[in-house]
Amino acid sequence: MSARSAAAVALIERCRKRTAIVGIIGLGYVGLPLALRFAEVGIRVIGFDIDETKATAINAGRSYFIHISSTAVAAAKSQGFEATTDFSRTREADALIICVPTPLNPSREPDLSFVINTTESLIPHLRSGQLVSLESTTYPGTTEEELKPRLERRGFKVGEDIFLCFSPEREDPGNPNFTTRTIPKVCGGSTASCLEVGLELYRQAVDTVVPVSSTQAAELTKLLENIHRAVNIGLVNEMKIIADRMGIDIHEVIRAAATKPFGFVPYFPGPGLGGHCIPIDPFYLTWKARQYGVHTRFIELAGEINSNMPHWVVGKVVDALNERRKSVKGSRILVLGIAYKKNVDDMRESPSVELIELLVAKGARVDYSDPHVPAFPKMRKHQFDLKSVTVNAENPTILC
Ligand SMILES: NC(=O)c1ccc[n+]([C@@H]2O[C@H](COP(=O)([O-])OP(=O)(O)OC[C@H]3O[C@@H](n4cnc5c(N)ncnc54)[C@H](O)[C@@H]3O)[C@@H](O)[C@H]2O)c1
Repeated sequence: MSARSAAAVALIERCRKRTAIVGIIGLGYVGLPLALRFAEVGIRVIGFDIDETKATAINAGRSYFIHISSTAVAAAKSQGFEATTDFSRTREADALIICVPTPLNPSREPDLSFVINTTESLIPHLRSGQLVSLESTTYPGTTEEELKPRLERRGFKVGEDIFLCFSPEREDPGNPNFTTRTIPKVCGGSTASCLEVGLELYRQAVDTVVPVSSTQAAELTKLLENIHRAVNIGLVNEMKIIADRMGIDIHEVIRAAATKPFGFVPYFPGPGLGGHCIPIDPFYLTWKARQYGVHTRFIELAGEINSNMPHWVVGKVVDALNERRKSVKGSRILVLGIAYKKNVDDMRESPSVELIELLVAKGARVDYSDPHVPAFPKMRKHQFDLKSVTVNAENPTILC
């Protein structure tokens, strides 16, 4: 047990009694459910976002995600949950949890600008006795190398008058089998006192908290989880290509293999990787590993296979049309589903979008149908003037 400062003792006590105020910064797919969960256990939550429309929706008791009900937001609001774009109010919070995006830049290197901008906007308002917990997925060393020096530059001693943790989010939007409460939460502290404060906070909202010895271990834990998935999806995508060439149904094979009660975890092939996490996070480690002279070969190989899948699907479409004496050019093609996975409206990195791009480039007349995405949204890299069509016999010549 570390010698706790008076500030640590007071903050732990406020967490334990649930009188601590929690500030959630970034009210997206990760931040909003976390805010709702803290509110559910009776903790007062203030949400912060640079996107005014999100703050307005929350203050009106409205959800902006299809997988989160407005009833849940309204219930949290009645527990005191409110949202604002005024960062001076971060001073009111005892714990500040950062859930902002961590994308890749155009060179596919980590883009920490959201994390750094958020930290910089907190700095003027920080006060002694606060916990700062980073949840955004990132490479090992971010918390110590990017956040800690910024807090210390303000004159705070991390572990004595201000506390710093990394606790990765494990949200699986749209999956009804797991909730923020039931998903165990890993937490690493910058010091032993930081860890104690972090664990006490998260213990209020989450059934199982899993301490690790450092923020770096917590950061790498999240990357291992996502790299494990990216690599295994790459493997099963390669198996799909082999099975297809051999005329074997890969899904039958996976179902049969999954009856093995030990040593096998089923992964499923698809048209590529999507979402904010799996196509992106592994490359945070690739970038950092280079500083240590290590080449992340599994990550690169899985990335190569997975990113080639939309091209493989296009090849199958070409073959199917060819069978019918048709070319892609001029054919009407309906893409079923453009969100990156079922039952969500999240289009980030969706391979369906790349598929549309490739087919349009070949001259196809493409439509899509996705009840969760009524109109093709404005995206950073893609722009299509399309609306979801209703599936019926009139519409497509080909379904993929
Ligand atoms: N989506 C998931 O399923 C998931 C799961 C686990 C981890 N993560 C990680 O969690 C982090 C957040 O992901 P997300 O999916 O919630 O992103 P998101 O884009 O849904 O939400 C991020 C929010 O942060 C806000 N924001 C951006 N800059 C800000 C700033 N300077 N100050 C305040 N708010 C700001 C945005 O307006 C947005 O509302 C990422 O690091 C991601 O890798 C995501």
